[in-house]
Amino acid sequence: SKPHNVQRVAFHFQPIKNWMNDPNGPMLYKGYYHFFYQWNPYAAVWGNITWGHAVSKDLIRWHHLEVALIPNQWYDLYGCWSGSATLVEEGKPIITYTGWSNASHSEDHKVQMQALAMPADYGDPLLRKWVKAPGNPIITAPQGIDSNFFRDPTTAWKGADGKWRMLVGSKENMTGMALLYRSPDFLNWRKAITPLHSVNGTGMWECPDFYPVSISDTYGLNTSAYGQGVMHVLKVSFVHDYYTVGTYITSNDTFLPVQSNLDVGIGLRYDYGKYYASKSFFDANKNRRILFGWVNESDGEAADISKGWASVQAFPRKVWLDKETNCSLLHWPIEELESLHRSKVTLDSVSLWKGSVTVVEGIKGAQLDVEATFDLPEINDAEIMDVSAENAQLMCSEKGASRNGVIGPFGFLVLATDDEMEHTAIFFVVVNSKDGWKVLVCSDQSRSSLATNLDKTTYGSFSNLSGSQTSVSVRILVDNSIVETFALGGKICITSRVYPKNAVGEAARLFLFNNGTVPIRMNSLIARELAGAKIDGIES
Ligand code: FRU
Repeated sequence: SKPHNVQRVAFHFQPIKNWMNDPNGPMLYKGYYHFFYQWNPYAAVWGNITWGHAVSKDLIRWHHLEVALIPNQWYDLYGCWSGSATLVEEGKPIITYTGWSNASHSEDHKVQMQALAMPADYGDPLLRKWVKAPGNPIITAPQGIDSNFFRDPTTAWKGADGKWRMLVGSKENMTGMALLYRSPDFLNWRKAITPLHSVNGTGMWECPDFYPVSISDTYGLNTSAYGQGVMHVLKVSFVHDYYTVGTYITSNDTFLPVQSNLDVGIGLRYDYGKYYASKSFFDANKNRRILFGWVNESDGEAADISKGWASVQAFPRKVWLDKETNCSLLHWPIEELESLHRSKVTLDSVSLWKGSVTVVEGIKGAQLDVEATFDLPEINDAEIMDVSAENAQLMCSEKGASRNGVIGPFGFLVLATDDEMEHTAIFFVVVNSKDGWKVLVCSDQSRSSLATNLDKTTYGSFSNLSGSQTSVSVRILVDNSIVETFALGGKICITSRVYPKNAVGEAARLFLFNNGTVPIRMNSLIARELAGAKIDGIES
């Protein structure tokens, strides 16, 4: 039976029950979006990993199908781990995944190897049945690579020589790397001598993703696109999802990051909150690249077991190159969300005075889509605070939403009770840092629930402010136990999980606040209540 509780989400992807982790093999096939995910059919904790499968016409209303891959072969006996889908000849899909097994080794020495699966019936648009390739495993760990650190094949792409390429995540000592493989026929794969990319000190790179982005528009590109007007994104997962934008030279398979000396590991972060093992795909239907990401719980294993489920997928995002930087991405919720919009409230030009906390009238509930723009005041008065990539989260946490500042903290309280005892604060603070004006973007979970035993870590990041910038914007999606923040047009994303006890359902309120001494003018606000997505025909 389907577990019911207030923390289940209404328009985010989640299985009917039990544990989920990474998104796997998203693709569009014969008019259906297919979504697979790491799933334990037996419990709300990680284990017995299969590929759960669901289809949708709009990436929001999902129909759950039979599990696509189960551990039943010598090379995947302990789990069918993460992988991808590639549309090969005539758009026929092939799944690449990692088999986890102890074959030919002792019980405690398990190995990872790469395998393929094909649809049993290409005519079935739902692709309900999958067959594992007789030639599996297609790739075993190469010499010098520990077979415990060899997993998560990407979507393959085709080079100018007609050969397929794909990446497999790995490490050597503490050097994280994306191993490159080439194949003339998708069955026989050979490792290139040098990895596509590697960075010292990062550890195992899980779930690599490698894809082209256009330098001139927001459209997405087929994964095999290259050449003029195209840059490439490499994303890898270790603790967080990091990415770097670079030039990919197809003739010799080299990847040259634009910023070669980034502060943190391989580069920038997709999201500054809870977001991991993401995977993108090209949606040929709407010419866009879409990103899924795994959002784990913050409530601990015991709570997951009693709920009977764990994890949700982030709301699908469109990703494209930020023309302002040419080396970072923008993320934005897919437009299909509009089909769930219900009643709305709009406000223009509201002054948020020092210390004000005001409820937004006419809107309530735990399923919201909120979008607002705030005019920046004269920023010369901003507090002096040295903000850097390393300490932004700490600054957000030490200098939380309830502190009195100068220009901010100002923003929203979502999932708030009438008395504000419970709330999640999404806010901005403008600061005068050593190397210029900056705006902190924070998601403060410290008062999100009266319940204890929760991870209430505050998240945050920052952006440089240029003298010509006159406003800051934010969009917030709220769905019962998840809050997703898209600040500054999608430059900074923060995903958090929260578990209010009282700010649930109709009792949840939206507030505007300003705890800075300088008044802030909110230029515009559109706040919408969202309907739940019909999943398997049932309104959740
Ligand atoms: C990432 C990950 C992958 C692996 C899968 C197993 O969360 O550890 O590297 O394939 O999960 O479920």
